[in-house]
Amino acid sequence: MVHDILFTREGYPRSNESIERSSGWNREPRMNRLQSFSPFKSAMICCLSGSFIAVVASAQTQLAATPPMGWNSWNHFAEKVSDADVRSAADALVSSGMRDAGYVYVNVDDTWEGERDAQGEIHPNYKFPDMKALGDYIHSKGLKFGIYSSPGPKTCAGFEGSYGHEEQDAQTYADWGVDFLKYDLCGLRDIMDIHNPQHDEQKANAIMRDAYVKMHKALEKTGRPIVYSICQYGSDGVWEWGADVGGNLWRTTDDISDSFRSMALIGFSQAGLERFAGPGHWNDPDMLEIGNGGMNADEYRTQMSLWAILAAPLLAGNDLSKMDETTKSILMNKEVIAVDQDKLGTQGSRIGPQQVWMKPLADGSKAVGLFNFVTDDVPQPITLRFKDIGFPGSVHVRDLWEHKEIGVLKGSYTVTPPKGGVVLLRIWE
Ligand code: GLA
Repeated sequence: MVHDILFTREGYPRSNESIERSSGWNREPRMNRLQSFSPFKSAMICCLSGSFIAVVASAQTQLAATPPMGWNSWNHFAEKVSDADVRSAADALVSSGMRDAGYVYVNVDDTWEGERDAQGEIHPNYKFPDMKALGDYIHSKGLKFGIYSSPGPKTCAGFEGSYGHEEQDAQTYADWGVDFLKYDLCGLRDIMDIHNPQHDEQKANAIMRDAYVKMHKALEKTGRPIVYSICQYGSDGVWEWGADVGGNLWRTTDDISDSFRSMALIGFSQAGLERFAGPGHWNDPDMLEIGNGGMNADEYRTQMSLWAILAAPLLAGNDLSKMDETTKSILMNKEVIAVDQDKLGTQGSRIGPQQVWMKPLADGSKAVGLFNFVTDDVPQPITLRFKDIGFPGSVHVRDLWEHKEIGVLKGSYTVTPPKGGVVLLRIWE
């Protein structure tokens, strides 16, 4: 289900702007496709196809049993990222305590790629003198190494992609010690046009899926466990087939930017996708912007809380070497991380007409986010009725940002989250 959300303040989504009308985001509801999905049917196919698929599925699950956490270079460094920046991010993950809080992947995004040699082997460009040495450095810190490529001849930033070199690149990554690959559609679109001049939707989809399967198989062939992150901006109902092509996570929208408008439109538009996420295969509403400076602390708390409720991958996108205490406190709120990383692996849902979201947790408790996204100057109170989250009697309520017990309550709880902000609760019987 995709909902209208209304925003009123300058700098926020315009009044009456709705998720549906953000067509550039390729987030059409496509309810016919959503409804045709049958987990039962998928399970049957899996069992009937023999143990091979079952083994693959379980390897896929183990690889990303909870949503991957780490850091990615793109949101802050973009095309300027260098070996030194990545090493300094790895250092900061350790010294800040982020590694110990769960952020273990150090992911180099686009623009590391150089030329291929006469044998077709990819080499990094001048910014990355030695990828194997970089991987070794990252591993020496107890972290994992992520890299980026495209199924097309060129990446989004115009660098060398993996088209026609899938197996060779997968093996190169494995030799460098890579643990995570973000595989970004971009340049494949030209190939899709050449092979499908009529722009037949089904044919385009088949070409794209084949390209993702090809790299998945190439990664498997290396024998190295490598988390597979699909990035094609949420088109063609990727949540329905992302896991089938081997994805551990798949982007559900176009790129996030460091503004409340972008973050809120992406985050609050995830309603309805929860049935497609679970251990080993996650919806990915894109990386975190926390600490990049375009939002205030309340708004960044909204991103952290909403992403946790969504069981989204938590990939920090800021300059970790220059974090203030507020940024650290948001990224490293262990109670919020625990909501994201809960082993039940259920993506939370929007409940009720207001922006109230709920995520069931493995111990029977529920995380509830009450979001003030209607950014009038006077924030409005929001009432949560406990019976609406399945608790008819008395409940214990804990505030995960205040780190304090609210008490044992019955009936309902009313709060007024700050403008653009959130109150995040854990509630149990
Ligand atoms: C696309 C992706 C981004 C980033 C850039 C790199 O836009 O969606 O996340 O990887 O490419 O060029």
